[in-house]
Amino acid sequence: MKNIAIVTGASSGLGREFVRQICRSKVYIFDEIWIIARRKERLKAIAKKYKEHTFRIFTYDLALKEDLEDYKELLEEENPNVKLLVNNAGLGKIGQFDAISLEETMNMVDVNMSALTYLTYVTLKYMKKSSEIIQVASSAAFLPQPQFAVYAATKSYVLSVSRALHHELKPRGIQVMAVCPGPVETEFFKVAANNQVPKSFKKFFFEPAHRVVGRAFMDVRAGKEVSIQGFSMKALQVIGKMIPHRWILSGMNGKSS
Ligand SMILES: NC(=O)c1ccc[n+]([C@@H]2O[C@H](COP(=O)([O-])OP(=O)(O)OC[C@H]3O[C@@H](n4cnc5c(N)ncnc54)[C@H](OP(=O)(O)O)[C@@H]3O)[C@@H](O)[C@H]2O)c1
Repeated sequence: MKNIAIVTGASSGLGREFVRQICRSKVYIFDEIWIIARRKERLKAIAKKYKEHTFRIFTYDLALKEDLEDYKELLEEENPNVKLLVNNAGLGKIGQFDAISLEETMNMVDVNMSALTYLTYVTLKYMKKSSEIIQVASSAAFLPQPQFAVYAATKSYVLSVSRALHHELKPRGIQVMAVCPGPVETEFFKVAANNQVPKSFKKFFFEPAHRVVGRAFMDVRAGKEVSIQGFSMKALQVIGKMIPHRWILSGMNGKSS
């Protein structure tokens, strides 16, 4: 039975960094690394770059039911031992709720929530004791965000379901952890704001992808429920717990992004 790692959204940003750190790791040894995203050329370039590892490339669109079903059938055929699943693929769209198209809105819901749930559900059957699931949520999960409403809500879902699964799967020796990054310099904001430069205050909080992912791997091995990189995002989490959300939302005055 092959020991494998699966990383979704591996074609750029945090996903590509997860793959890079898996390849450099002395802790993680896998027979195969399965990488998933829509952009095949990007995935091929990663496999070429780390050619000492065995990759399998799957160009799935995780918003499509048929691609999710393909993934399920693939697992049934291969019957692997999944040691690590990184549910990282995701996207956000910044803007007024009804100014974002219905298609884009439902795509966010499908990729960030439905696909993550589906992949977790069907992959779990192929995981044993000491396997790990890393779910990439966001610091946007900590409180509602006007102008980023659906994205923040999808990430609250990811955080909530992951925290619950952390406790539910602990007796089976399966470690589930949510990662809640603040702003990270990836292609995320290009997609989110249609190539607009993010607001300067967010630039100030930017963390490099390697730190977010490095922290995530440290935290998952330490058995943590949630991984948060950087003081400012930890402070945001505490503020989100201590101060009534309606006060914070009034302060944001509907202008956050
Ligand atoms: N960057 C940030 O500031 C930030 C902060 C907090 C949380 N996050 C979260 O971190 C995760 C990774 O984002 P990133 O920052 O690395 O952004 P990114 O560079 O835009 O990467 C997003 C990844 O998701 C994949 N993806 C998007 N839609 C997909 C679909 N329908 N099917 C399959 N794959 C899809 C993309 O691959 P293809 O386009 O090739 O399909 C890409 O590999 C996301 O879940 C995001 O919400 C990011």
